[in-house]
Amino acid sequence: MYVEMKGINKNFGSYEAAKDISFRVDQGHLAALLGPSGSGKTTILRMIAGLEQQDSGDVIVDGNVVNHIPAKERGIGFVFQNYALFRHMTVFENIAFGLRVQKKGKKEIRDRVMELVELVGLEGMHKRYPHQLSGGQRQRVAFARALAPKPQLLLLDEPFAAIDAKVRKELRVWLKEMIAQVGITSLFVTHDQEEAVAVADEIMIINEGRLEQMGKPVEIYKKPKTSFVAQFIGTSAVLDDFDGFKGFEEVPKGRKAIVRPEFVEAFKNDNEKVRSLIPAAEKGVITDISFRGSTLELTLEVNGISLTTNRSLERRHVEIGEEMCVLIYRAYILEEDDTTVYKNQMLKGVDVEAL
Ligand SMILES: Nc1ncnc2c1ncn2[C@@H]1O[C@H](COP(=O)(O)OP(=O)(O)O)[C@@H](O)[C@H]1O
Ligand SMILES: [Mg+2]
Repeated sequence: MYVEMKGINKNFGSYEAAKDISFRVDQGHLAALLGPSGSGKTTILRMIAGLEQQDSGDVIVDGNVVNHIPAKERGIGFVFQNYALFRHMTVFENIAFGLRVQKKGKKEIRDRVMELVELVGLEGMHKRYPHQLSGGQRQRVAFARALAPKPQLLLLDEPFAAIDAKVRKELRVWLKEMIAQVGITSLFVTHDQEEAVAVADEIMIINEGRLEQMGKPVEIYKKPKTSFVAQFIGTSAVLDDFDGFKGFEEVPKGRKAIVRPEFVEAFKNDNEKVRSLIPAAEKGVITDISFRGSTLELTLEVNGISLTTNRSLERRHVEIGEEMCVLIYRAYILEEDDTTVYKNQMLKGVDVEAL
């Protein structure tokens, strides 16, 4: 089944927490609501679940408007950020909870719970209490508990937030696989772009109660539609005045821009390969070099503006103060509600990837 929001508005007093939100998540897809804290992500999930009532607009599940259907009848599973397991109940009883509420038979409950214990990889642990589990294991129990009544839709609110970084990475891969295996339509909330990109089929960027953009991670990354999205996604510093760069003469004066590290490459001045490209290149001086584990991050001063780029450790040694030949492949030029990608016109016809 699919879930859809149509023209949803929600105010808390005079505060607009959701502004004309419309989107659809298709059957079996895993979508992420991504945005800064306070942008309205949890409110959206709660309205879908029926835990919060919208002021206007429709929540539609599989073609049916569910606005007036109470939460417990919507057939939706919910996993909360703080796993919210019942502390005095075993793993078994936690997972069985929803089934007991539904007054299922003893054998049916046992079979379903044991099936889920196995599915989430907690064999032999069903008699444990939450305090006898690691954070990652507890979150698996929360996931199994949400799935137990066979919901049609799974909502997860920052499901990894309380878990330490290394386990979080494992858990999100696990979750993605698990959701694909179960085939359940899912929507999860995160403020962490890396997490959204790693897990979701589609991402919805939420800012101040508005849906700024929805699309596949790569699409959003490559074609940010608004200035907010361009700044929120990827590593980017906003340059105040992108003016006077070679190959970018068409950019209107005085515009703000984003030049991501991957849009920039610095070559040693004696590099023969780039000799023919000098008309397209700027001169830059290295002002900082920091070791990033697998690469070096170079900061270069170019035309009075500071740009960064990553450099493979396999390439020749460079040092602070060295003058380099800097190629800027592209830039995002920002306007109020729009972002335009400009390519370096001097590189037209050059096979950039072969450099
Ligand atoms: N029940 C409520 N009453 C008043 N304001 C609320 C309530 N729930 C959320 N808000 C406000 O709505 C905004 C969005 O909140 P929320 O949806 O929790 O954001 P997010 O999950 O993106 O961090 C916040 O400014 C928050 O303070
Ligand atoms: Mg939230």
